[in-house]
Amino acid sequence: MRNTGNRIQCDALRSKITDADTAAAFITSGSTVGLSGFTGSGYPKAVPLALAARIDAEHVAGNPFRVRVWTGASTGPELDGALAKADGIEFRLPYNSDPIAREKINRGEMEYFDMHLSQVAPMAWQGFLGPLDTAVVEVSGIRADGSLIPSSSVGNNKTWLDRASKVILEVNRWQNPALEGMHDIYYGTALPPHRVPIPLIRPDDRIGEAYLRCDPAKILAIVETDAPDRNLPFAAPDAAAHQIAGHLIEFFRHEVAKGRLPASLLPLQSGVGNIANAVLSGLVGGPFEDMTSYTEVIQDGMLDLLDSGKLRMASATAFSLSPQAAARLNADMGRYREKMILRPQEISNHPELIRRLGCLAMNGLIEADIYGNVNSTHIMGSRIQNGIGGSGDFARNAYVSIFMTPSTAKGGKISAIVPQASHVDHITQDVQVLVTEQGLADLRGLSPKQRAAVIIANCAHPDYRPALADYYRRALIGSYGQQSPSLPGEALSWHQRFIDTGTMRR
Ligand code: COA
Repeated sequence: MRNTGNRIQCDALRSKITDADTAAAFITSGSTVGLSGFTGSGYPKAVPLALAARIDAEHVAGNPFRVRVWTGASTGPELDGALAKADGIEFRLPYNSDPIAREKINRGEMEYFDMHLSQVAPMAWQGFLGPLDTAVVEVSGIRADGSLIPSSSVGNNKTWLDRASKVILEVNRWQNPALEGMHDIYYGTALPPHRVPIPLIRPDDRIGEAYLRCDPAKILAIVETDAPDRNLPFAAPDAAAHQIAGHLIEFFRHEVAKGRLPASLLPLQSGVGNIANAVLSGLVGGPFEDMTSYTEVIQDGMLDLLDSGKLRMASATAFSLSPQAAARLNADMGRYREKMILRPQEISNHPELIRRLGCLAMNGLIEADIYGNVNSTHIMGSRIQNGIGGSGDFARNAYVSIFMTPSTAKGGKISAIVPQASHVDHITQDVQVLVTEQGLADLRGLSPKQRAAVIIANCAHPDYRPALADYYRRALIGSYGQQSPSLPGEALSWHQRFIDTGTMRR
C-alpha cells in the first residue's frame, strides 16, 4: 500500500466521492462505457466489479443487462474477466487477452472487434462507433484546478473523458505519486479537413500536457481505491527465445555494418508476448548503445535495457510489467520518470509518427505462410487468441517490419510456417523480416517465389521443412498461376488435420 496523503486536491470535486456500488448505478443497460486500461495497467478496479455484481443481480431477477465496452486494450481480471463472467458484455473493442472474455467470444456469446489501436480514438470522434455514454477512468490524483494526473496507462482516456456524457473517476492510491509529470497528453488532433501535422520529431519530444482535462460538470462520481495493477509475469526466455534474439541482433549488426541502420539503431518498437520481451532482454548483451524506443508498452525487457544504460529513453502508452518489474519501477519511479514518456495510444501508435521516426517494429505472430503473410490473431483460422493490437499500426509503417515466433507450437504438433495462413492480419508487403529459432528470412525486395524459398529454408522447423518443400514443389507444377503458386484444395489441409487429429504432422 502506497498511501501518500490526499490524492483529491480539488475542493469542488470532493463532494463527488462515493462508493463503487453507487458509482456503478450510473451505468445503464445497453449503454456504451469507455474504460481506461491498457495491458493490465491503469484500468478501473472497483467500479467494473460493482457493475458485474449488479449485472449478476439483474440477471437473477430476470432482467437482461449488458453493456458495450470500449477500452484502451486488454485490461485486468477485475474488468474484462468480471464483466465477461457476469455475461455483461454485449460488444467489446479493441484488443482483449482476458481468458474468460476470449472463451465467450469464441463460443459466439460476445461480439468483439480487434481494431488497430491507433484508430480507436479517431473513430470514436468520427462517430462511426456510436455515442459514448459513460467514461470510467482510473487516475492517480486530481489537482486543485480539477486536472487529472494519469496513472500507469494513458490509452484512450483523453478521448473517453472528452466524448462521454457522464464521467466516473477512480483515484487509485496504489499508483505511484511520482508518476506525475511522466505523461504527455497531446490535444492537437482533429478530424479532416482540420488535421495538421503532429509536431513530434524525436521519440523524446514532449508535445502536450502532463495532465488530462475533464469538464467537472460531467463528473458524477469519484471512487477511491488502493489496488495494484495486475499484469502477468513473463515466461523466462527459453532456448528458442534466446536463438531468436541472437538472430535478430546479428541482423541489426549486419544492417549497421552495411550502413542501412545507425549504430544506435532506430527507435525500437517491441510487441506484446514472451518472445518480444525476450528479444529486448537479449539486446542488453548486444553491441548497440544510446538506443531509444517508440513503442506501445514498456515491458520487463525494456526496463532491463534502460537499467543497462543502453536504452536512453522509452516512449509508450502503458506499462506491461510483471509484478516484480512493477515493484522495481515503483521503487525508483522518480529516476525512471526522466527516461520515460506515456502518451495517448493514438500518438504512441500513430502511423505518421511511426513512419517519420523509422521504428524497428518487432512483433510476435501465430503463423506465417510460405509467402510471408502473417496471422497474429486467429488459431486455425477461427479462434481468436488476443487481437491485432498495435501490430498493424507499427508493421505497415515501420522502417523494418520484423515478425518473430518459435517455428512450432503446442509441443511440435503445429508448424508456425504453413502453406497458407488460415487468417491474414499482415499482408506480405508489411512483413519484411521473419525470424524463428531456426533462422532469419530477410524478405525485403523478394518476389513471392523467392520469399517461399528463403522462408522454408531459413525459418521452418526441420520436422516440417520437407512437407513444406514438397507442397511448394507440387504447387510450382500444378498451380493455376505462377505468381504465388498454391494448391487451394490442399493449402489449409494442415489446419484441418490439426482440428481432426490434434496434430499437423502426417
Ligand atoms: N497455432 C496454434 N496456437 C499457437 C500458435 C499456432 N501457430 N502459435 C502460438 N500459439 C499459442 C501458444 O501455444 C499459446 O497458447 P497457450 O496460451 O494456450 O499456451 C499462445 O498462442 C501464445 O503463444 P506464445 O508462444 O506464448 O507467444 P507470445 O506470448 O509471444 O504471443 C501472440 C504471441 C501472437 C499471441 C502475441 O504476440 C499477440 O497477441 N500478438 C498480436 C498483437 C500484437 O502483436 N501486439 C503488439 C503490438 S505493439
